[in-house]
Amino acid sequence: MFSKILKWAGIVLASLLVIGAITYSVLAYKFNQKVNNTYAVNVRPIQVGTDSATIANGKHLYEIKGCGECHAADLGGKVFVNDPAIGTIGGSNLTYGKNGLPESFDDKAWLSALRHGLNVENKSLLLMPSEDYYRMDDEDISAIIAFCKSQPYVDRPSPEIVIKPMGKILAVLGKLPLFPADIIDHQHQQPAVVEKTASVSYGKYLSASCTGCHKTTLTGGENPVPGGATVANITSSGHIGKWSKDEFITALRTGNTPEGKALKNEDMPWQMTAKYTDVELEALYLYLKSL
Ligand code: HEC
Ligand code: HEC
Repeated sequence: MFSKILKWAGIVLASLLVIGAITYSVLAYKFNQKVNNTYAVNVRPIQVGTDSATIANGKHLYEIKGCGECHAADLGGKVFVNDPAIGTIGGSNLTYGKNGLPESFDDKAWLSALRHGLNVENKSLLLMPSEDYYRMDDEDISAIIAFCKSQPYVDRPSPEIVIKPMGKILAVLGKLPLFPADIIDHQHQQPAVVEKTASVSYGKYLSASCTGCHKTTLTGGENPVPGGATVANITSSGHIGKWSKDEFITALRTGNTPEGKALKNEDMPWQMTAKYTDVELEALYLYLKSL
């Protein structure tokens, strides 16, 4: 009797292992397909300035768009995910130093990366959040490029990207935003310049930096990073509905909310929102309150 149970348990276990192995091979196959998929896009050329005002705007944008979190403050690149199950992911060296961008990385390549999430082979960059950047106007996107190109060269090799089985599974199941080119509207027509005043429309424009975590509706929910803190509702039906403009600005500059919560920078990147100008924060406040 006992040996019969053991035999059946063995058969069940073996079948589960086989099913698991087949499921994983299918997912890994889909993952490789996504990695190797090439995109045919039309990269609209724009003029990239070199004047000091443009470069200063680009420096500000590099800070408030969080580029430094993944590419380092000196633009030399750094590892920002190092997880035994998911893998190792780092932002590339964005300078033309030794082991950095090749000389052939021209404005078209910059635009292709920032507006289409593509590398020079027209394959999707991995985890580079171009889905948050592709709607930026020509003025801002060219300022970022101008700033990056004006920075001192750093001789550091770009980190090698290694995606482990769990990372592949999560990416294929859409639980990890690994393929920006998959979710970008490649036909989107960016305006030459949007009006940058404390207005609802400018707040909406800036909120592209919040929707990656707070969702397109800005009502929050599950964290896009597996295991991360639940994301807050930042529309007027959340706490923000009761906050004054000054309380909102204090919360985004210090991480301290009127309810007495100290936001952790790892959960809610307030050290990044701290660098927004008053006009930018006011615009965000007006937009979020309008939702
Ligand atoms: C969440 C992390 C993250 C943020 C934030 C981020 N990047 Fe990236 N970026 C990456 C990763 C990772 C790669 C490399 C992807 C690859 O090689 O597949 C990358 C690649 C790039 C590339 C392409 C380089 C090449 O060799 O093809 C450019 C250009 C770039 N990023 C610019 C920027 C700029 C400018 C910003 C801010 C506006 C920014 N990135 C913000 C993670 C990030
Ligand atoms: C990397 C993900 C991420 C990004 C990007 C992000 N947030 Fe958050 N935010 C969170 C998480 C997670 C929480 C909840 C933290 C907690 O409950 O401790 C949060 C909380 C907040 C809160 C506090 C809400 C409350 O009820 O206490 C505000 C306000 C906020 N975010 C505004 C913004 C704005 C504005 C932007 C865009 C400029 C933004 N966030 C971008 C992840 C993010």
